[in-house]
Amino acid sequence: MSQEIHKKTTVQSLDNPTEIRVFCPATVANVNCGFDSLGFALKGIGDEMVFRKTEGRGVTITEITGDTLPMEAHNNVAGVAGNAMLEDINANFGVEIEIHKKIRSGSGIGSSSASAAGAVYGINQFLEKPLSNLELTRYAMKGEALASGNEHADNVAPCIYGGTTLVTGYNPFKVIALPPMDTVYVGILHPHITIKTKEARKILPTHVPLKDAIAQSQHLASFVASLYEWDKELFKESIKDVLVEPHRKLLIPHFDEIKAISLQNGCIAFGISGSGPSMFCLAFAKADIDKYLSESTALYECNGLQVDSYSSRISGEGCKVIK
Ligand code: HSE
Repeated sequence: MSQEIHKKTTVQSLDNPTEIRVFCPATVANVNCGFDSLGFALKGIGDEMVFRKTEGRGVTITEITGDTLPMEAHNNVAGVAGNAMLEDINANFGVEIEIHKKIRSGSGIGSSSASAAGAVYGINQFLEKPLSNLELTRYAMKGEALASGNEHADNVAPCIYGGTTLVTGYNPFKVIALPPMDTVYVGILHPHITIKTKEARKILPTHVPLKDAIAQSQHLASFVASLYEWDKELFKESIKDVLVEPHRKLLIPHFDEIKAISLQNGCIAFGISGSGPSMFCLAFAKADIDKYLSESTALYECNGLQVDSYSSRISGEGCKVIK
């Protein structure tokens, strides 16, 4: 499956387009057991970007709505990713990009990744010989690095491929599309504080105890095995994080209480989405997600903190052209 998905054309049978609109999904990275490696795309939550082919060269950002972000291409993740791709392929055209943000920056559900992945996906629609998903992911990582200070693909890969992806290595760079989790429901809770990925990476230890490294390897291996065998019990046991959560949860108010609410309501996994502050939880019943979201929203509101909550699914689709 992974070979097919790499070769899969990322162009949606458009007849020589000059203007397109693209939906770029929000994503959950790390998924507890795969720091910098694992991620999935969310259904129905995402940004939109409009692309116009121009005779000039390079990326020009013409409009940004929904957030205050740099318009200069070299300071904008979409501009950096798009220009890396256009320069590398020696494109004989440029692009104007409008970015319509629906995913708040610093929310932990892949806001910068959506812009970086969307940029390279959009430009790909204008190429006579489109690049593969893997090549697009590599260019999108350049934009991600501007936001987080480090090239990692755990958000940009699922944003481009859709579904759940595993980065098996960065050198050589490889992404595997994992089997779908069709029966899983996802809840996202976003307390209105901002956590910068760069800062959230700085607080992590550079060395970890061997026993924690062993436990985390077992979690990730069990997670992957559970998907191929669809072993629900193993799946539940595997989505745990002994490496990063103990450090980053201190940045998120009421984290332990919210985690307890999720487990009391029948959710099977709970954790920090990317570098936070959003938290994800998984359940086999939508009712469990909805009850958890309503109780945890009430807890935050009682404590004077605003939250957004989303009841979603894992989307099999990554970036896509829309009307
Ligand atoms: N893996 C990244 C991190 C995701 O947790 O720092 C956020 O970009």
